[in-house]
Amino acid sequence: MSADFTLALNYDQLEENGIKLLNLNNISLVVVKYKGEVFSLNSRCPHMGCSLAKGTVKDYFLSCPCHGWSFDIRTGEYKVNKNIKLETYQTKVENGNIFVKAVSEF
Ligand code: FES
Repeated sequence: MSADFTLALNYDQLEENGIKLLNLNNISLVVVKYKGEVFSLNSRCPHMGCSLAKGTVKDYFLSCPCHGWSFDIRTGEYKVNKNIKLETYQTKVENGNIFVKAVSEF
């Protein structure tokens, strides 16, 4: 249902490996561009709550700047324990813009 998608930012505003912190529908999330694709995940690290906005992206994993926990940007799964997950949000690119379905499933 495309009506649930919210305009997040222009595709070109985000560089490759870039991370943008946004607040959409009262959800704090990061939009990540990697290999030309875009992904959206909750911005709060489940370890001790650091923001992932200043993390780094490598090999489809977003690493937390505080203690290095890494999350798969495609699924939100913590690399070491897949039972720990960041919430992910459907993300799409249309007409040069990035749209995110920022709806909490919890
Ligand atoms: S708060 Fe993210 S790894 Fe510790």
